[in-house]
Amino acid sequence: MKRNILIIGATSAIAQATLRLYAEAQDNLYLLGRNTEQLETIASDATVRGASEVHTAVLDVNQFETHETTLQQVFETFPILDIVLIAHGTLPDQKACEHDVHLTMTELSTNGISTISLLTLLANQFEQQQKGTIAVITSVAGDRGRQSNYVYGAAKGMVSLFLQGLRNRLYPNHVHVLDIKPGFVDTPMTANFKKGALWAKPEKIATSIVKAIDKNQSKTLYTPFFWAGIMLIIRSVPDVIFKRLKL
Ligand SMILES: NC(=O)c1ccc[n+]([C@@H]2O[C@H](COP(=O)([O-])OP(=O)(O)OC[C@H]3O[C@@H](n4cnc5c(N)ncnc54)[C@H](OP(=O)(O)O)[C@@H]3O)[C@@H](O)[C@H]2O)c1
Repeated sequence: MKRNILIIGATSAIAQATLRLYAEAQDNLYLLGRNTEQLETIASDATVRGASEVHTAVLDVNQFETHETTLQQVFETFPILDIVLIAHGTLPDQKACEHDVHLTMTELSTNGISTISLLTLLANQFEQQQKGTIAVITSVAGDRGRQSNYVYGAAKGMVSLFLQGLRNRLYPNHVHVLDIKPGFVDTPMTANFKKGALWAKPEKIATSIVKAIDKNQSKTLYTPFFWAGIMLIIRSVPDVIFKRLKL
């Protein structure tokens, strides 16, 4: 059966790799992103790969006043949403944030508050329809604050906590809430980083996302899987030691 799938932040490399899999499965797609040209290119590619229907609309997630009308448009096209994937994000310059309150607030908005605004609206739709999966890409960075990226970590951690509550709320409504926590992924977001053994390609992350959603998983998904172990260790280090580490 063709599924109706909404992808927010559809121009993200991880989102693109994921939506390619859904296109090949001939699903119906609604793609939201802020770059019209790129959205159109991605939509054409999805159609060529086999997507049954592809719709696009522009959404800058920091323009909160547009969230409701944009989602209303989506619900009119797809009265039942089988899956929503929220994928947008930015990797803040932590040092710059430390000297610029406005920048810090913008990063918290892009990576945290905007997602919570969208989730608040989406949750009511999923609650009514009594089925579906809400999947959100957060990050392992949200598991513990580190000096090198705690603005990003705080925003992602906020979303993860919100998702925990939402999962709990929507459990009786048969709605699955998946918190996707990737480790290091080779995408435009991390273009300037030196890559190593712990790095994954977006396609690998996409495969794990699709698999978890297909299995109706409603949990935190560390991906690749070994990040569950790494983060267990990171979370277990006592504060008295952790505060001295240059992480
Ligand atoms: N790469 C990693 O190592 C890694 C690790 C853990 C978690 N993540 C998370 O994975 C998700 C996907 O990131 P990615 O790695 O695929 O990076 P990416 O390719 O750089 O994608 C980020 C996307 O977010 C979009 N975006 C940023 N600000 C936006 C705004 N105000 N309104 C609408 N869209 C906006 C960007 O749109 P434009 O193209 O228009 O700029 C871009 O498509 C993000 O949530 C990220 O935090 C990534």
